[in-house]
Amino acid sequence: MRDADAGHEPRLILLCGLPGSGKTTLAKRLAREIPAVRLCPDEWMADLGIDLFDEGTRDRLERRFWAHAQQLLRLGQTVILEFGFWGRSERDEKRLRARGLGIPVELHYLRAPIDELGRRLEARNGRGECGTVPITRQLLEG
Ligand SMILES: Nc1ncnc2c1ncn2[C@@H]1O[C@H](COP(=O)(O)OP(=O)(O)O)[C@@H](O)[C@H]1O
Ligand SMILES: [Mg+2]
Repeated sequence: MRDADAGHEPRLILLCGLPGSGKTTLAKRLAREIPAVRLCPDEWMADLGIDLFDEGTRDRLERRFWAHAQQLLRLGQTVILEFGFWGRSERDEKRLRARGLGIPVELHYLRAPIDELGRRLEARNGRGECGTVPITRQLLEG
């Protein structure tokens, strides 16, 4: 048994953090180690040809992912949500619902100084990785 999945109990993992804080990097590692299903709106939107700044579509996709995540959790599958979770109410909604299903919740709060986030995003933008949102310094500060 791997440490990351002591007991193999399905759980909901929420990754909270600003762009560049390392959500996708951590999610990929956890998905491999646990193993878990990773739901990443940025990657899906990029693959479906949707503008990554289309917030209405992002909201609908995240709602659909959340319904799907609950089905997976009920079936015993650990799920990782990479939604950013900048709002407390978003985190609380998922936490309470999962608790209602009897599913443990893990919240990872990733943070780094804004200059470090800026440097990481500049490097990531430069590589033009598919499924990542090109975030400028101005957007980051916003
Ligand atoms: N802990 C870390 N320390 C340094 N660089 C990191 C760290 N985590 C991620 N990165 C790098 O920073 C960039 C942004 O990480 P990413 O996982 O895409 O962030 P997010 O998904 O939160 O936007 C990537 O190029 C990644 O390689
Ligand atoms: Mg990401």
